[in-house]
Amino acid sequence: MDKLVVEGGRALKGEVMISGAKNSCLPIMAASILTDDACVINNVPSLRDVDTMVKILMALGINGRKEGSVFIREKGPCRHVVAPYEIVSTMRASICALGPLLAKKKEAKVSFPGGCIIGPRPIDLHIKGLKCLGADIKVEGGYIVARTKQLKGADVFLGGHFGSSVLATANVMMAATLAKGETVIHNAACEPEVEDLANFLVKMGASIEGQATPTLRIKGVRALHGAEHNVIPDRIETGTFMLAASITDGDILLKGAMPRHIMALIDKMNELGSDIRTTESTIHVRRRKRNIKACTVTTLPYPGFPTDMQAQIMSLLSVADGISVITEKIYPERFIHISELNRMGADILLEGPNAIVKGVRSLSGADVMASDLRASAALVLAGLVARGKTSIHRVYHLDRGYERIEEKLIRLGARIRREKEK
Ligand code: EPU
Repeated sequence: MDKLVVEGGRALKGEVMISGAKNSCLPIMAASILTDDACVINNVPSLRDVDTMVKILMALGINGRKEGSVFIREKGPCRHVVAPYEIVSTMRASICALGPLLAKKKEAKVSFPGGCIIGPRPIDLHIKGLKCLGADIKVEGGYIVARTKQLKGADVFLGGHFGSSVLATANVMMAATLAKGETVIHNAACEPEVEDLANFLVKMGASIEGQATPTLRIKGVRALHGAEHNVIPDRIETGTFMLAASITDGDILLKGAMPRHIMALIDKMNELGSDIRTTESTIHVRRRKRNIKACTVTTLPYPGFPTDMQAQIMSLLSVADGISVITEKIYPERFIHISELNRMGADILLEGPNAIVKGVRSLSGADVMASDLRASAALVLAGLVARGKTSIHRVYHLDRGYERIEEKLIRLGARIRREKEK
């Protein structure tokens, strides 16, 4: 297993190229189950989760390969219907094979994805939505077993306790593309990754209206064909590098980004004292004020502040002037990073779903444990500003979602290296 060793205290300066969005390309790759034709997906990042999705497609009998940043789904039918535990247990996004398998093969057996370090992650909305389309669904031997004679269009309401669901919307939308008649998804997730998937499905011949709105109308078609698509830039990687500029008092130009997808963070960082200039595809971040101001942050479904940026902004606020309050409204238990940030000298108290962050003058390097993907990124940010050396253990989480993060940081002037754990 690898660890990352960061020596803090350097202002990051220069340019960084943003990679394609992990959370767009995973469902888009799963959507290629819906056709027998070849598909070409461009701007696919090299990540462990992408490799896992390739393995799932292979388990289903679909040949696919990655050449640089291009994923090629070869021509040929999906031959199997089982997404096995060994693969699904390593990545929750595997659940997005369920909808396309059911629509294409009329049958699917996908391992139940289970819990996760960021808290319970139920799949009731996925099951409810697919049942509305006429699927018969049971849980048997740890697998979700779904069957249908023919999916039929229906009105589906996809709101849960915590609002809309990104992957449930993706699953139901994919299934509805081959259902008989019209499906209307109410309270659909509006995240850019759902919009990107819808755009890919339309290129495959699907009939979808209402992209990026809470009401999606899908008219089922008889078959989908192959398509080529460019995945949108990763808004969470974008946000992480924006915070890297701010926390180190640096000056970074992000290229190949999409600022309109990360407006909630841009707005918050302006409030905190960053100077942010955008064009359609670039973001230039510098610190406007000497000290970062404290603020309140509440995570919400898009276009609100993303839960996937909560841990990273906590690192910044831990060295801000004053007391900040961060409220997590999507995953109320997504706070494992607090204890690790406190090991580095932060002063953060958890009160239910609220983290109370008292800004400290500085952090000091320490041995810390990465608990999940975004928490790992938060620890890297904290390490970049801490005095001395921070060793981030279990860094494999980071490799699931950030493409060559240490290479990109080194080019910006960070002192960071990967070492094998003894
Ligand atoms: N929820 C339910 N029932 C369901 C599904 C979800 O109650 O059937 C709840 C969840 O427990 C949560 C809320 O609804 O409280 C939103 O969860 P959502 O379903 O939207 O999450 P997801 O689709 O499983 C995707 C991303 C996550 C990101 C969330 C929220 C992918 C592969 N994953 O997950 O990304 O946090 O949306 O934006 O797209 C990450 O990249 O680190 C990551 C965790």
